[in-house]
Amino acid sequence: MEKIKEILSDDFSEKIVSIRGWVYRIRSSGKITFIVMRDSSGIIQCVASSDNLGEEEMKELSSLTVESSLELSGRLYRESRAVTGYEMSIESYRIYERNENFPIAKDLGEEFLLDNRHLWLRSREFTAVLKIRSTIFKAFSDFFYNNNYFQVQAPMFVSTATEGGSSLFNVDYFGEKVNLTQSTQFYLETLIYSLEKVFTIAPSFRAEKSRTRRHLTEYWHAEVEVAWYNNDDMMADEEKMIKFIIDAVLKNNEEDLKTINRDINRLKNIKIPFERIKYRDLIEKSREFGMNLKYGDDLGADEEYGLMVHFDNPIFVTGYPESLKTFYHRPDPDHPGEILCHDLLAPEGYGEVVGGGERIYDLQELLRRIRDNNLNPEDYYWYVDLRKYGSIPHSGFGLGLDRLVMWICGLSNIRETIPYPRTIRRVKP
Ligand code: 4AD
Repeated sequence: MEKIKEILSDDFSEKIVSIRGWVYRIRSSGKITFIVMRDSSGIIQCVASSDNLGEEEMKELSSLTVESSLELSGRLYRESRAVTGYEMSIESYRIYERNENFPIAKDLGEEFLLDNRHLWLRSREFTAVLKIRSTIFKAFSDFFYNNNYFQVQAPMFVSTATEGGSSLFNVDYFGEKVNLTQSTQFYLETLIYSLEKVFTIAPSFRAEKSRTRRHLTEYWHAEVEVAWYNNDDMMADEEKMIKFIIDAVLKNNEEDLKTINRDINRLKNIKIPFERIKYRDLIEKSREFGMNLKYGDDLGADEEYGLMVHFDNPIFVTGYPESLKTFYHRPDPDHPGEILCHDLLAPEGYGEVVGGGERIYDLQELLRRIRDNNLNPEDYYWYVDLRKYGSIPHSGFGLGLDRLVMWICGLSNIRETIPYPRTIRRVKP
């Protein structure tokens, strides 16, 4: 049994080949039935004609409908009029399941498609996105393995908040109230004292009421933590990682990018190093774009869109005001009120895909920041302990993998990046 993509070549021309998969399109014209078949690798036009098949067989094949599953064998030949340049002349077949009424068709409402996600995700476009997503996940890990990082795992049931209490999901844990993790960061910080350079890929959960195009309540979070790194060291690894991932997609998924009509040159033109812009200067620059931002304003989806439509390359925004970020970020000793952190904003209006920076490593400073944020240091006793026993400078970041897929694929909504998106209005199927 061959995969469709493998046989689309002159090496197989005039030979008998066998494929199995699903009916993608079917049409009968007089005594001939054209069945375009799909499998995970591609599509091919197959022809049933009475030259090779009996009357009953012709009847059986011509009455098939889309998404029926079958196996076909026959001779392959070059045919310039066929969708992928080759055609198979069917000589024998086996039907696995004759499908009556596949509910997915063109021009259906969005809610209907979301209810039928389990069927809709067979579409060619979504298959292409999933292949690109798969490359992105692999390339992320490859990059860090290549650079001597260790992959680690952290718990999903947690009792502390990293990114503020308002977006926590509560879970009843045998009578105790615990939360689903928002970030593995604090656990990764504990692991650098033995492994120094660590990364993980895991879901993070945010009970944000945001209805933007870029928020999920459950998203895939790739996080990194490194001993001895400062904010600049971290950004230097990050931009190389982004370039490495884009190159992997260009190498492995050119066909898939074409299937979803992604402008490939946009990706080819991404250059490192990425520009570093201070938050203060970006606010200033926003005037050029006719925006009315003030120092201290948070940059949400709309603001980042307004800024980043004017960029073709990602930018690092550094030096956010202390008030805009969570308590663990290290204040900049040279610029009071600013912190040593960065967000990576993607071009073409996509905005934030990474948040990271240096962590506070001085015990008193951490305790002050915890209290300033009206939190109880006892809840963070294990995190605080790290500053008592061999504390060191260190940095890290969190990358929203779904957002990265969204940008690389040029999609307009984060829901299109993941098989089963979880949003405030949807947890099924
Ligand atoms: O900026 P965030 O909240 O940072 C953290 O969680 C840090 N503790 C990470 C770290 O330093 N280890 O989230 C990091 C990234 C964002 O830049 C964004 O790409 C993504 O996670 N993200 C989301 N993606 C989809 N849906 C959401 N609701 C997201 N919230 C954050």
